[in-house]
Amino acid sequence: MPSEIAMYFKTEPITGALITDKANVAIAYRRSMTPRVILTLLALPVEILAIILDEYHLMDLPLTLLMTVCRTMNEVIKTTPRLWRRILISLDSMPPSLKAGSTMACATEKFLQTCIQRARNSPLEATFVVGRIDESSPTPEFRRERFRMLMSRSSQISFLCLIINPDTPLQVIKESFHGLFDDPTAFPALESLMIASAFPVPGLLEVFHPLLDQLERTTVKLRSVYFENVTREFILAAREYRFWRKLRRVTIKGEYSPIHITTFEGCDDLEFLSISSELLVHPSCALNPPLRGGPLGISDSNEMEVEAASGCESQYLPVHPERKVPLTKVQWLRVGAIAMSGLQELQIPNVKFLVIQSALPDSARQTPVPAHSIRLPNLQVFHVAASHSEIIAISAPELHTLCLQVSVLKRADADRVVSSIFHGDEGMWTPKTLSINAPIHDKHYETLYRRLPDLETLTVTLGDKPSETFYKTLKKRGILPHLLRLTLDFYALPTPTPANGASTSTPQMRTVRYGPLTEGELALSGSYKFWRGGGGTVSTLLGSKPTPPLLSEQVRPAMRDVARVRANQHLEFALLACKYGAEQLEEIYAENNICNACRKSAYLNGRVEPAGTHLNEAHPSVKTNVGEEPQSVESNHLKAAE
Ligand SMILES: *[C@@H]1O[C@H](CO)[C@@H](O)[C@H](O)[C@H]1NC(C)=O
Repeated sequence: MPSEIAMYFKTEPITGALITDKANVAIAYRRSMTPRVILTLLALPVEILAIILDEYHLMDLPLTLLMTVCRTMNEVIKTTPRLWRRILISLDSMPPSLKAGSTMACATEKFLQTCIQRARNSPLEATFVVGRIDESSPTPEFRRERFRMLMSRSSQISFLCLIINPDTPLQVIKESFHGLFDDPTAFPALESLMIASAFPVPGLLEVFHPLLDQLERTTVKLRSVYFENVTREFILAAREYRFWRKLRRVTIKGEYSPIHITTFEGCDDLEFLSISSELLVHPSCALNPPLRGGPLGISDSNEMEVEAASGCESQYLPVHPERKVPLTKVQWLRVGAIAMSGLQELQIPNVKFLVIQSALPDSARQTPVPAHSIRLPNLQVFHVAASHSEIIAISAPELHTLCLQVSVLKRADADRVVSSIFHGDEGMWTPKTLSINAPIHDKHYETLYRRLPDLETLTVTLGDKPSETFYKTLKKRGILPHLLRLTLDFYALPTPTPANGASTSTPQMRTVRYGPLTEGELALSGSYKFWRGGGGTVSTLLGSKPTPPLLSEQVRPAMRDVARVRANQHLEFALLACKYGAEQLEEIYAENNICNACRKSAYLNGRVEPAGTHLNEAHPSVKTNVGEEPQSVESNHLKAAE
């Protein structure tokens, strides 16, 4: 499984949030390169050093930094072609974050030539950037000549990425790529294609039509496409090509009008599908079938045979409106929006990981989809945001991770939705990991917890400080007996970023640890409430205006007491933490290496095993990964293996 996942996410795009994370990793890496570390590296045999450098490269760390260290290092890096395979050409002002990784950002002709030479026969990961256009920008002809230098190695390119920056006029885009994809360009090694624009450019199809045609003629390995802010017209044109039907992975990002499932007609190998807009399934709005042979007029030999054999007049089988698009191999599905009546008609029997960014309500005219009637027997991880409980139309017996957001304003509505989802009867989802973000009344958490006694990991997102009832519930005997990890996430409303937009790294969360409240502290104060009122009272006495205590100060004593009480019940936490978004602070109140199995036996025997005994066999460490899907799937996979 992990290697399969690695394959999927190998070519994750170099955009947006990812860049920020990369910059942070790169900073940490720079700091770690102390003279001692470098001396140790240099003492290694050259072959081993090359393996380590390869590993750094896979982690997308900047190797150019190491080249300045000493001659040996410089030599090893220079003569290892693989380390030069990521080449980016940008002739306009380049954001510094683009230089943070292992990609060789080539601003000059000389450096580009050097990179191409050093990469020798390695498969190339080529990125072409157009924009941000300013007075110092070169002419499109100049840009095109530079692009052509790398394009002359098109047969070596395994990953091709085209980026269009903000405010780039269509004319500039057109002229920059003009003639670049004509013969003799060929892409026999191409596995992955990415086109990302900062804004939807009408007319983009015209610019890249020659590319699509050339891909149709020359690709044999293309399995993955990523389109961001291209136009709907572009997507509909792409599906006409035969290469489209061989894809395993499709990502379509941007604000589009709804996309109909027939866009993926014939994509029988599709395993990963992510679209940011609404997915329509009902046959009444199906698209016309793709034209046979695509816009090139190249006939599809397989289908010709079928046609000849059946002697069928009709060009398309089966015929609209009964046309079904089975996505039998799809394991990962993310949709911007879908209604349950649509999901009901999707054929996704093998989906394991499902994200519905917004579950649309079905129209009142339709008969409601019965509870747990949409069978997803393999679904393990489900992320969903909804304002209603129609989502329980899904039956997911294997579900182990649920991330639920209930987007309603009134608490009473949230209470109603959450209690219908966790109805306590047959078919109810019983995840072991739950992340819930719903504005329910604090007293309703008890009902929720009692209905999910097997929860092991729980994250509760809260807008504000919870009431006493919230903590009391957690301290009740017999509540959540298997709970190992609990995190309260106090989200912060996003603060406006400085207008210059210069910040390249996300603000760092600080982590502070406090132990569980000790009996001594408890006795000293009589009650933890003491600390809560503390600060305010003193300042009032001094006559100054009382400053409201920080949220962390208000929540901390109560959480430390939860840790104390649960420990006394032999229900120690493996992790008890709060995230205070507004303070950029994470506090940890309990942290132990406990596995559930050993805690269970300790619980039964009335004693607690020494911490750490079962650490290694039960909790293989999960690699931190930038992509969100692989991590959840992987970590849950590991958990399932326990
Ligand atoms: C795509 O467009 C949206 C706005 O329409 C923008 O927020 C997003 O950053 C764009 N994507 C890229 C890769 O620039």
